Amino acid sequence: MCGIVGYTGPRDAGPVLLDGLRRLEYRGYDSAGIALVTEDGDLFVEKRAGKVAVLTDALGGGPPTAGVGLGHTRWATHGRPSDLNAHPHSDCSGRITVVHNGIVENFRELRDELVAGGHTLRSETDTEVVAHLVEDAYEGDLAAAVRAALGRLQGAYALVVMHRDEPDRLVGARLNAPLIVGVGDGESFLASDAAAIVAYTKRVIFLADGDVADIRPGSAVVTDRSGAVLDRPIDEIQWSAEAAEKGGYAHFMLKEIHEQPAALTAAMTGRLRGDAVCLEELDPIAKRLAGIDRVEMIACGTAYYASLVGAALFQEWLGVPARSTVASEFRYSPPPIDARTLVIAVTQSGETADTIAAARLAGDRGAIVVALTNTVGSAITRESHASVFLQAGPEVAVAATKTFVTQVATVVMLAADVARRLGRLPAEKDRELVEALRRLPSQAARTIEKAASIEEVAGRYASAAGYMYIGRSFGYPAALEGALKIKEISYLHAEGYAAGELKHGPISLLDPEVPLVAVATRSAVYEKLISNLMEGKARDARVLAVATEGDTQIERLATDVFWVPDTLEPLSTILAVIPLQLFAYYVAVKRGRDVDQPRNLAKSVTVE
Ligand code: M6R
Repeated sequence: MCGIVGYTGPRDAGPVLLDGLRRLEYRGYDSAGIALVTEDGDLFVEKRAGKVAVLTDALGGGPPTAGVGLGHTRWATHGRPSDLNAHPHSDCSGRITVVHNGIVENFRELRDELVAGGHTLRSETDTEVVAHLVEDAYEGDLAAAVRAALGRLQGAYALVVMHRDEPDRLVGARLNAPLIVGVGDGESFLASDAAAIVAYTKRVIFLADGDVADIRPGSAVVTDRSGAVLDRPIDEIQWSAEAAEKGGYAHFMLKEIHEQPAALTAAMTGRLRGDAVCLEELDPIAKRLAGIDRVEMIACGTAYYASLVGAALFQEWLGVPARSTVASEFRYSPPPIDARTLVIAVTQSGETADTIAAARLAGDRGAIVVALTNTVGSAITRESHASVFLQAGPEVAVAATKTFVTQVATVVMLAADVARRLGRLPAEKDRELVEALRRLPSQAARTIEKAASIEEVAGRYASAAGYMYIGRSFGYPAALEGALKIKEISYLHAEGYAAGELKHGPISLLDPEVPLVAVATRSAVYEKLISNLMEGKARDARVLAVATEGDTQIERLATDVFWVPDTLEPLSTILAVIPLQLFAYYVAVKRGRDVDQPRNLAKSVTVE
């Protein structure tokens, strides 16, 4: 939610910042802006409502040459998207500029106080107060002034601040919003995530909440808010800048769908040992796991759908109550949580505010918290006793694809490993699971090879008024995820429903204009699902089924079929969702939508 980037060093800062903003654009694209201290010592600011491309156009021949600057791409919270509300924001003197990701919750009170003190605030944003607070506190040392201003802020922030009179220096700070320092050779960076800077350096410091980073071309000093120097390790990013490029595909989403076989292989790397699933990340908490008597999974959006698979398996294999709850609701009715509760937070970004808040609550009540995330160094890893990484590589499209299938694969492995450690997963079942997991990448590849026929089918369904997706058991999360993909990128209404619930209300939505998309892969609930499919067919709905290769019955019942290979039921969610991702992608393309950057959305949701 908002991307920020800062640079100080020998390169020309403007192009570095614009390149960084393009790579961060998936975090928000309501407006974009940059500020530079030029070679002549002037402060240059350009900011525009709209995407980074609008800013670039406004810059015409390019920004002026500069060695230091900061940039921002916005997902609007306070103040509508406009040139005025676009970041960076400045103080009264025009010497201090600020970019911000997060929400300053007490901004109204601070704003009133600043106005009463003679400041002129021009925008509707919460962020602008920060520039003026730093202005009030400034006595010739930017880092000291930022630290003083932070003491006045309530809420969440990742901030970068620049002062025209200290032209090689940037100061960053974070609290409940991501910010990293890039450590280059004679140059330094600040950024919301590594994608913005990995083309220049792979050496990064993951700042922790409360950290303040004071960067200059050849140095990066991290302190706490009192100014005490902290020793933060430098980590190495494991992927290259090319991994975050489109690589010849029309969209990142299509590229990431095609990356799924490789992502699944990566997610399993080092975790299938002989005939057993082993996640060594759990070793340090093995003793505590031995005593668990319930499992709570927390997540949002796509990650929540993946967690439903995990909850079902924990319950089945461990024989203890297990459930998944949308993280934003978890806190309002928290279940009984104690040291015997295993809480698993599933989040691709590791920065989702709702998931972090729920995990923190669970940790405060004594639970064992395990993070399942794609992002090394992310905030959720600090709320957790153990972190299991998806190893899926960077995902740029706002609509999650490869991180969904790797989340499902990883929650399955997690449940299997915990069950094995507790002696509740028979060796035979473990072996069967390992064999099925090993087959998954090639089965996923076979499914993706059918993209052209899925595109053709999508052409016939793209003008539908809406869609009803149904599934049962492990097909249900796939139906939910398939419907979410349509909603996100086509802006069409799609319901994801438990198939058995269809007759309890939503069946009234079906007609020839609203197709029924049924996840009807081979399973113990297949016959019941077929009955639900028939109920839809009887209402004149076209029926699009996802079915297992070799199913001769479904061909007679459905209008169109997407075929997937056979696998174990818990893994069927992974294969069933792939044609639904491709279907949603092609429907969106045919409707002329902005697939990678759908309206109103941002990839990383760092506000509650
Ligand atoms: O980073 P997270 O996995 O915590 O994100 C959770 C949701 O915001 C995310 O899955 C969202 O639903 C995606 N846009 C789905 O495509």
